[in-house]
Amino acid sequence: MRILSGVQPSGRLHLGNYFGAMKQHIEMQHEHECFIFIANYHSLTTIHDAAKLEGLTRDVALDYLALGLDPQKACLFRQSDVPEVTELAWILSTVTGKGLLERAVSFKDKVAKGIEASMGLFCYPVLQAADILIYRSDLVPVGKDQVQHIEMTADMAGYFHGAYGKEVFVKPKPKLNDAAIVPGIDGEKMAKSAGNSIDIFDDPKSAKKRIMSIKTDSTPVDQPKNPDTCHVFAILRLLADPAETAEWAAKYRAGGMGYGDAKKRVAELYEAKFGPAREKRAELAANPAIVDKALADGGRRARAIAQDVMRDVRKACGLVTSGHLS
Ligand code: ADP
Ligand code: TRP
Repeated sequence: MRILSGVQPSGRLHLGNYFGAMKQHIEMQHEHECFIFIANYHSLTTIHDAAKLEGLTRDVALDYLALGLDPQKACLFRQSDVPEVTELAWILSTVTGKGLLERAVSFKDKVAKGIEASMGLFCYPVLQAADILIYRSDLVPVGKDQVQHIEMTADMAGYFHGAYGKEVFVKPKPKLNDAAIVPGIDGEKMAKSAGNSIDIFDDPKSAKKRIMSIKTDSTPVDQPKNPDTCHVFAILRLLADPAETAEWAAKYRAGGMGYGDAKKRVAELYEAKFGPAREKRAELAANPAIVDKALADGGRRARAIAQDVMRDVRKACGLVTSGHLS
């Protein structure tokens, strides 16, 4: 089974990114052929600052390696090390109706947030489809908000097959984990751009401050509380084991527990989980050659597969190229 997923280097990664996406990427490396890439072409839709994009790209690599992605097992690479994806995106765009892209919820959301609608932003799902199809990926582990993009990818594979009468691609399926949308400290979806995140690699003091400021209702300490609607509990259950989660749920329902107690426990669990990774990240940051090598090796492995698939794609469409590409 080939698994592929990508993360945009568009800001510091947070608990939503970890529990919604990265955690499963890292776990899957043990059972499957895993491809994880840093979607730097996609980030050009929002970042036009070379030094910033370069730095953020490196940060994502450091984050994954520090959190346990093993570059010997999983293939970790930069999207831009496989420029063939942009060629495939163009080809897919010629068989995809504009209406499909107009229905993309994430495009509508981004425009509603005030991001200027460039052609790149509009065509974002086509590049994402190319990312997935060019490695003939079977499963794409993502958070809920990305499911529509994976469904659109399967649609685009179908349009290509229909247009050319050749089954060149594998239609991918999304893989969701059980982490629902992770709330931010204001209770809305945690997102890099919303200013409501708890970052994976924040320093312990400032992370604790953020955790202590998670929005709660004003139920008095002695009253019973509903864990299922509490944003603190929503994060606690991601960090605690099932037995501890059940204990906290009982404490909520019994009354006599203040939200502050649950927040303090979340801060402890956060530190126990991410403290060691923070140290590993600092070590890796001091040894850039290790990260460079992992990315270069990953890029080569990924590109070899992409080049094979592109040979089939060009042949299917009648794109004749000179010898150096075939
Ligand atoms: P952001 O919304 O912070 O910009 P991205 O859109 O780059 O994050 O998402 C990267 C991955 O993390 C995606 O697979 C997405 O589904 C997942 N993700 C992001 N935020 C959350 C969240 N709050 N809860 C669950 N998953 C999330
Ligand atoms: N759009 C994804 C996100 O914002 C990032 C991404 C780009 C991706 N290409 C992909 C995810 C291919 C999975 C597969 O999270």
